[in-house]
Amino acid sequence: MSGADIEAIKNQADSEIENVSSLDALEVLRVKYLGRKGVIVQLTGSIPGLPVEMRRIFGQQVNELKNRIISLVAEKQKTITVVSSEEAVGPVDISMPGISQELGRRHPLTQVTDEICAIFTHMGFSVVEGPEMESEYNNFTALNIPLEHPSRDVFDTFYIKSQVSSLKLQVETCDRLLLRSHTSPVQIRTMKSSKPPLAVVVPGRVYRPDAVDASHSFMFHQIEGFIVDADIKFSDLKGVLEVFARAVFGKDIKMRFRPHFFPFTEPSAEVDISCIICGGKGCSVCGKKGWLEILGSGMIHPNVFRHVGYDPKKYTGFAFGMGIERIAMLKYGINDIRLFFENDLRFLNQF
Ligand code: PHE
Repeated sequence: MSGADIEAIKNQADSEIENVSSLDALEVLRVKYLGRKGVIVQLTGSIPGLPVEMRRIFGQQVNELKNRIISLVAEKQKTITVVSSEEAVGPVDISMPGISQELGRRHPLTQVTDEICAIFTHMGFSVVEGPEMESEYNNFTALNIPLEHPSRDVFDTFYIKSQVSSLKLQVETCDRLLLRSHTSPVQIRTMKSSKPPLAVVVPGRVYRPDAVDASHSFMFHQIEGFIVDADIKFSDLKGVLEVFARAVFGKDIKMRFRPHFFPFTEPSAEVDISCIICGGKGCSVCGKKGWLEILGSGMIHPNVFRHVGYDPKKYTGFAFGMGIERIAMLKYGINDIRLFFENDLRFLNQF
């Protein structure tokens, strides 16, 4: 062994490592030179057989060669790794524009519902929900809606065919299941399960077999509200609804209460706001009337209290119910209810 041998081995190692192109092949070379039976170990093993004066210098040369091979292998390993990841994803062009992730948003009806609920929770109301499938009793009977009332008709309410008992029996006993046609049955559920004082709002879906057009949908949303306590008066109803209307439509909005009839309230009133388009002068949106109807309301009928086991001499209360789509359409100037349910992003993006 001599310095010339070392030089030859160094040149060979250099070119072999230089030309290798895979991690596997590089590992073979690493074992060949640096492994336990590799070239370097053999060279080191040959040192004792050398003349004494050569040993030190030869040992140094072997050591240098070893370090050189170690660092060449490490460097080659890095280059091969970078190249193979580029092969996998392609070259990286850092000047390319990023792929923007569009932010989702809440549906306009959800936004309006949350806004209305917040107005009432600030006044001390709690938010309660009820099932969309209801009993005929909760949806009609307990709300003092007489058997012959047209809203009970199959043309105005979706009844659900029961698997259990015969339909004839259900019709006779008025015990059918239905898709609730308003949120008022949640008045019954809440009053039955808790005691006054109560101040509750109920947002939710309701269903009516209406032909779909620009202002009708077989499914829409309502918010019901009611308060029950000793000595609740019609003026409380007016005060609460005025706060609500100003918060949604602005502080200059005017309100009027028109006498109306609902079986579950007495007296009853429909509530109008001054037209938000013309300010009351009369335009096409308000049909030249200057007023827009926004909700139904009244003092809870004593018969409703009797159905839930409240003493009508002890308690009074008011209730109101409004269509959320109608409020949203007025607030944003939307002229077709179907837009809410088509989920066209060009519509939804505007909210
Ligand atoms: N439930 C009525 C409707 O759907 C609205 C209403 C609720 C009226 C409460 C008075 C009191 O039309």
